[in-house]
Amino acid sequence: MDGRDLVRRVRWVGSVRGLRTVRSAWRRRSADAAALPARGAERARVPGELTGAEPGPGGGVVRFARSELRIRVSVGGAVFWAWDGAEPLPSYAVAGEAPGADPRAVLEPDKDGGWQVVSERLTVVVSRAGAVELRTPGGLLLRRELPPRWWEPVDGGPVRWVQRSEVPADARFFGLGGRAGGPRLRDGVYGLWNTDPGGRFGPGDDPLYLTMPVQVVVSDAGTHLVFHDNSWAGRVVLREGEEGAGSGHDRPGACEVRMEGGPLRCWVVAGTPARVLQGWTALTGAPALPPSWALGAQHARWGFGGAVEVRRVVDGYRERGLPLSVLHLDIDHYDGHRVFTVDGERFPDLPALAKELREDGVRLVSIVDPAVKAEPGEAVFDAGAAVGDRGAYVRDARGRVVVGEVWPGASVYPDFTDPLVRDWWGSLYEERLAQGFSGVWHDMNEPVSFAAFGDPSLPRSARHVLEGAGGDHREAHNVYALAMARAGYEGLLRCRPEERPFLFSRSGWAGMQRYGGTWSGDVSTGWPGLRASLSLVLGLGLCGVPYSGPDVGGFDGFPSPELYLRWFQLGAYLPLFRTHSAIDAGRREPWEFGPEVLEHAGAALVERERLHPYFVTLSQLARMTGAPYVRPVWWGAPGDRALRECEDAFLLGDALLVAPVLEAGARRRAVRLPRGRWYDTATGRAYDGPGQVLVDAPLSRLPVLARAGAVIPVRGADGGPELEVWAPAPGGVGGGPVVRDAGDGWAEAEVERYVTRWEDDRVVVERDGAEGGVDCPVRVRGVRRRG
Ligand code: GLC
Repeated sequence: MDGRDLVRRVRWVGSVRGLRTVRSAWRRRSADAAALPARGAERARVPGELTGAEPGPGGGVVRFARSELRIRVSVGGAVFWAWDGAEPLPSYAVAGEAPGADPRAVLEPDKDGGWQVVSERLTVVVSRAGAVELRTPGGLLLRRELPPRWWEPVDGGPVRWVQRSEVPADARFFGLGGRAGGPRLRDGVYGLWNTDPGGRFGPGDDPLYLTMPVQVVVSDAGTHLVFHDNSWAGRVVLREGEEGAGSGHDRPGACEVRMEGGPLRCWVVAGTPARVLQGWTALTGAPALPPSWALGAQHARWGFGGAVEVRRVVDGYRERGLPLSVLHLDIDHYDGHRVFTVDGERFPDLPALAKELREDGVRLVSIVDPAVKAEPGEAVFDAGAAVGDRGAYVRDARGRVVVGEVWPGASVYPDFTDPLVRDWWGSLYEERLAQGFSGVWHDMNEPVSFAAFGDPSLPRSARHVLEGAGGDHREAHNVYALAMARAGYEGLLRCRPEERPFLFSRSGWAGMQRYGGTWSGDVSTGWPGLRASLSLVLGLGLCGVPYSGPDVGGFDGFPSPELYLRWFQLGAYLPLFRTHSAIDAGRREPWEFGPEVLEHAGAALVERERLHPYFVTLSQLARMTGAPYVRPVWWGAPGDRALRECEDAFLLGDALLVAPVLEAGARRRAVRLPRGRWYDTATGRAYDGPGQVLVDAPLSRLPVLARAGAVIPVRGADGGPELEVWAPAPGGVGGGPVVRDAGDGWAEAEVERYVTRWEDDRVVVERDGAEGGVDCPVRVRGVRRRG
């Protein structure tokens, strides 16, 4: 905590709310002290010697003296293994039924006295002591899980465990949910406990709102994703390896996963990055498809004041010819910060305002916080109290409703791990739709209870239904927001079945992409915050959550005009493109930073609009294949070590490489190119990769490079569809998929495949399998005029 934070904290604690946060922190602490006694004596256990094996579908069970290991290769290639009899289900992450076993994968003895399962994409080798090795079909080691260790309390209670593993010396770690210090996860400890950092965060803060035990590991041997399916509090310690420069003394990379309870079960998906994400989203669910308007420019602010200001902001965009698709209303539009209410003085007729804005092409999105003001007589509170036999709200170990402290004051928390509660909560979204909102923004769902000290959440001993299994907050905490997202998504779907729900959520867990996306949360205003913004989007995409973006301009304080502009320019190439800031922070409208910033931010908005059809294509591809819109530059070439180290640029789909400016004063920057020809889209100049080039990055734009041969659907000058085609390299060919906007309903979109090639000195574009050829204008770029 720096000096400024300390002063803020002292001021906060001295205020009325501050005093209440002291009380609520005490309440939490004493609830836990009574219900969760300190851990007493424990017995440590390891698997012991291998005693036998029993083949079964897709693998089988290997028995050890003190445990057993189940291995199952599924159809599609994902491998499951688990100790102590754990099964794939129940799971909050896995979508629907677990995939069936691959009958071709058979458990057989290996030559060292262990057992192995050979499958199409992975070979799993189990040693006599219980180590599990994952090898590529060619025999290269991807990962070695050492025998696990458990600690069992003598007097009963959750069993802790640790699983250490090794990866190749050259491997790099990514993922673990939203991490500010990435995208490459360096040596350190990463918490698995969704946490509100309290007002703002930078690259050094961990954990943040959205953690998940999902690692993507990239090495020369290949790429794999490993998921420890366990929602308990835990942590991951990572240490990158070191190569002995040919001495043969490589130090492998190391990873240690520790959990405070819950099953030791794991999924692994291996292959190219594209296959890994396909396998991962096949297992945990296809990413929800945002409606097409959610791919446009969005503006938010905490503290709009009221309807008049909302109008003023929207008019500000209109008068300056700046496109705007969505405006978000934060908690200040609620009546006394009560969820599912509207302050009638500030917003005397919200449905009429919403209708008017909609006619101007602007949708409204509403914040939805989970905490309900603890106020008997208040409609939502009372309705929740009447759900089922025990009411909707989380209770403590003694059966009393847990009261926390959030924006409305003393608040209670719906238990979203209860299907009945999800149903009830989902039905409340009817009110939001009736107010004229088109989508929702879930916040404070780690869940937060402001605390002057300790963890700003519910007591760990608080009870949850957990789909009927019952358990406490240590198990439910990390899936609280995921379950809330399910309630919101299913509720919106029931209330308005003909439209795709739009939802994004600050917190979440593995599988949340089924319901929607996420955003950075309160990223601090400053150049490090800008860098953290990109880290979050890249890391989340690799964990299967492709739709996200930062608070453009940063959440707190006042960005310099240059910082604001660079953030805005980056945001324009990210899936969720939204300006937002805190109630006491500076404004974030593009015209608040002088005429030069306005001009360049305006250009970024126009470019985003032009690329809208490309974003539609990327959203559809994400749904169909799991590939995130925003991909690390090593996506197509994970074996290129220089690309693996590159953290300051990204691929937007297959076609574009975006190189944001992340430093003050920079007007040129180095860009690391993957193999092949790349065109600077501003100058048309061609560069040949792999390698590093220096490109211009004037204040007016970010460097964006297009892959030779790319076909990019864009909006033409007349608003109609157009294809932007970048000339293939000499003698080469190119192409790409295009998926047109099929509206905001459920119509199945069609994938059109285009190919490009040279014919004499002309670039030809054809649609694969189509009789009539290309039915929209084509603009070919990157062809040098002859003298
Ligand atoms: C949290 C959110 C932020 C929101 C604020 C008020 O800090 O992260 O986006 O503006 O709460 O609702």
